[in-house]
Amino acid sequence: MKSNEPKVASGAVPIQVSGRPNGTALYAKSINTLAEEGLNWLRLIYHNTPYWVLGAPDYLPIPPTRLRALIWGPTADLRTFFKSEDNWRRIPKLIELLTDHGVKVDQLQAILDFGCGCGRDIRQFFRLKNLVRAKVYGTDINAEQISWCRRSRTFAEVSMNGPEPPLSYNTGQCDLIYNYSVFTHLSESQQKSWMQELSRVLRPGGYLMLTVCGDSYLHELNETQVEQYRAGYLIVRNADLAGIPADYGKCAAYHPQAYVTDKLATDFEVVRLLPGVATIPGSMDQYLLKKLSN
Ligand SMILES: C[S@@+](CC[C@H](N)C(=O)[O-])C[C@H]1O[C@@H](n2cnc3c(N)ncnc32)[C@H](O)[C@@H]1O
Repeated sequence: MKSNEPKVASGAVPIQVSGRPNGTALYAKSINTLAEEGLNWLRLIYHNTPYWVLGAPDYLPIPPTRLRALIWGPTADLRTFFKSEDNWRRIPKLIELLTDHGVKVDQLQAILDFGCGCGRDIRQFFRLKNLVRAKVYGTDINAEQISWCRRSRTFAEVSMNGPEPPLSYNTGQCDLIYNYSVFTHLSESQQKSWMQELSRVLRPGGYLMLTVCGDSYLHELNETQVEQYRAGYLIVRNADLAGIPADYGKCAAYHPQAYVTDKLATDFEVVRLLPGVATIPGSMDQYLLKKLSN
């Protein structure tokens, strides 16, 4: 018997614990829902109006809500998209990180954003054009995102890829490949084949940056999953939805550090691991990997 079922003494009449809520309860519930929806609208207007009026801080076109929501979820507002330190400064931070590790960023020739979505990272190169002269490429499974990027970001070359490799780039073409929150939405077999493909496209000694949900996301797992995770296993929910453009986000992967270093990044040296911070929502583990020269 489930523990929340009513316990009935023999001969007693069971107490009605469920059923239709009474009028007052329904009224209170709808007031709460309305208040919540009202607050969401106010927040949306407050966060979006400056951008609707003044445009984006980089003067580039703003992606439509639907495309932003496919990346960021239905609450994606423009302030989050443009202001949050984690989003809007992450390419300058990546460039700083590479520089700290001795990479001459002005000598990079080709950079690829794998899973570029509506280009929130690609557009950051626009402000760095005096520092980074590399050709910037972007690729994604979503045709609509790619067509929007093509129309609005003429300085990058974007194309569509299938849910499985290959990419259209030459072997060793790129000096740097980054992907923000893409392996977080792939099945285990896709992760392995995409890792091999990204390694093919990267030149020996080139860098791969990837973000994954690590320890800072443990609160999203149940007890059994936490145990498996702690034993070094990759956890993937809804693996069957990986690679489907409208549903990819329902597939969620959680990567223990040992899995990344011992199973996924076998062609790479781990140059740096920046762990996610549990108290910051959306904060992921970030790995900077260097392709081994063989
Ligand atoms: C969470 S979004 C992140 C988008 C972008 N990197 C960003 O941070 O704004 C994940 C992106 O990966 C794309 N994606 C999912 N599976 C992919 C695959 N197999 N190959 C390329 N892109 C993929 C999705 O379409 C989506 O645009």
